Amino acid sequence: MCGIVAYTGMREAYPIIIKGLERLEYRGYDSAGIALQNGDLHVYKKKGKVADLKESLKNVNLEGNVGIGHTRWATHGEPNDRNAHPHYSANQNLVIIHNGIIENYSAIKQDLESKGYAFTSDTDSEVLVTFIEDIQKNTQTPLEEAVRLALQRVVGAYAIVVMSRDTPHMLVAARKGSPLVIGVGKNKDEYFLASDATPIVEYTNEVIYLDDLEIAIIKNNQLVIQHLDSTIKTPYIQTLTLALEAIEKGGFEHFMLKEIYEQPKSVADALRGRISSLEGRLHLGGMLEYINRLVTADRIMILGCGTSWHAGLVGEYLFEELARVPVEVEYASEFRYRNPIIRENDVVICISQSGETADTLAAIELAKQKGAVIFGICNVVGSSIARATHAGAYIHAGPEIGVASTKAFTGQLAILTMTALLVAYRKGTINESDYRRILAELETIPQKIEQCLKLNAETEKIASVFKNAHNFLYLGRGYNFPVALEGALKLKEISYIHAEGYPAAEMKHGPIALIDEEMPVVFIATKDSSYEKIISNIQEVKARKGRVIAIVTEGDTEIKKMADFTIEIPHTIEPLSPMLAVIPLQLLSYHIAIMRGCDVDRPRNLAKSVTVE
Ligand code: M6R
Repeated sequence: MCGIVAYTGMREAYPIIIKGLERLEYRGYDSAGIALQNGDLHVYKKKGKVADLKESLKNVNLEGNVGIGHTRWATHGEPNDRNAHPHYSANQNLVIIHNGIIENYSAIKQDLESKGYAFTSDTDSEVLVTFIEDIQKNTQTPLEEAVRLALQRVVGAYAIVVMSRDTPHMLVAARKGSPLVIGVGKNKDEYFLASDATPIVEYTNEVIYLDDLEIAIIKNNQLVIQHLDSTIKTPYIQTLTLALEAIEKGGFEHFMLKEIYEQPKSVADALRGRISSLEGRLHLGGMLEYINRLVTADRIMILGCGTSWHAGLVGEYLFEELARVPVEVEYASEFRYRNPIIRENDVVICISQSGETADTLAAIELAKQKGAVIFGICNVVGSSIARATHAGAYIHAGPEIGVASTKAFTGQLAILTMTALLVAYRKGTINESDYRRILAELETIPQKIEQCLKLNAETEKIASVFKNAHNFLYLGRGYNFPVALEGALKLKEISYIHAEGYPAAEMKHGPIALIDEEMPVVFIATKDSSYEKIISNIQEVKARKGRVIAIVTEGDTEIKKMADFTIEIPHTIEPLSPMLAVIPLQLLSYHIAIMRGCDVDRPRNLAKSVTVE
């Protein structure tokens, strides 16, 4: 995915755009660029981070009240100056910024080449802007009409903003499958466009979420929204609840660390107003209309990618144990390309922090076509997935900016636990006292996460011992098997150390061959129903000279005797243990990555949400 930002109004555009790009940099940081209207149309772009672009513009006149900017995560063409956005059309009359993928770009390109057009980059975006230029030339239509005609022939996903040298007070924006938010200035005489609300929030809290197949035309600071079929739409202005502090580092060195530390609050926010153990109350407003479909479901399918998929795996244990309903968890990216069987009484739950993951969105569309009722668990309010699902619950974690997902995971687990419990209670698969006991324990989780965070210094010491390891193994059983997967993913994505997560019992079926004195093995070995079994697994590793780091329950003495390092987390009941056990694993990967000099908030090759296939 990429980040796009644009401004038109009476202020200087450059400071707004460059700051906006810094805020959106989590979406991609291969290259950055801006285009400004200041007497003429100028494009400035550079490989690397936004800071590199800013540095290169130190002595450039950057005046102008209309402009667009882009921070790129490369899909077509390697990251370099040439492939950076904005892209000029062939005659340099138009410029475009684009997030998404034009799937039929190569057919369009061939057609344009046969007409004599030449291209300077390897991108699909340059093809699109040149296609618009060609249509404009051939049909003598205004820019907005040419954009509309071009988009009618485009296959793929896009959020675009186009500017023209000929109409310097005009921006034309459109979306399909990639997000685009329009901030409306207080006097409706200036507009801010961006991939999400973070570049907008300090100027206005009035926003319009552009819908798929809509075009926004802002001409002389007047906004018109049209459907791609050219019908006029009435803009629906919403009030942003996002606070500026939520998108700043607030004294932490990295967003990831800030977000790890926010978890006592973010989990409390996920639970707030939804549960009361005293009253035996569990209320998930956004699910109510369809809750009976979950209660009577013959099967639940949980879909997601990455960390959200790991949360889904915990969901499988929760729903099967508490609500006695069969669950299948699948990567959305696989589900969408199968011909999955969905029966009448099946229900699909989709999990996504960003609510924009292309594979998850496509899986939702497929499941919908097959008649499924779909619940969403998202963080970003108003995101595409939140809007595409029939019902759901937000995790209310606040913006997650670090590329490695942390607080979203614990928030997703909080929602999954509440949902499974609600279904179990309504189905009668749980008795009143167990129901209240789990609710009561859930209420203590934010405070127990707070205790886990006190393990930071201890975790940092362990990180210093293992920072140069080449491989790591993470092992857990039952509810903590997905935590092992999540711990391994955190480590590999930000420290670039190879790590694998396995169910501990699977170790003897292969991975045990890897164990020697060089191999750190992280066990999630809390006091639960598989405690004795995991002790045997630890012994198997020790017998082969592996080095054991064990996450154990406070007061554990047995594992302490055999592990090289132990990290003690507070006691909780088994279904809630992932919300605590993951905290030291997040901290461990953070510290190892920092000690290896890695950019934890912007790990190489990654982007925060993957809006491409
Ligand atoms: O926004 P989503 O939850 O749909 O994103 C899914 C994955 O792309 C995401 O969890 C990714 O794996 C993270 N980088 C993990 O830290």
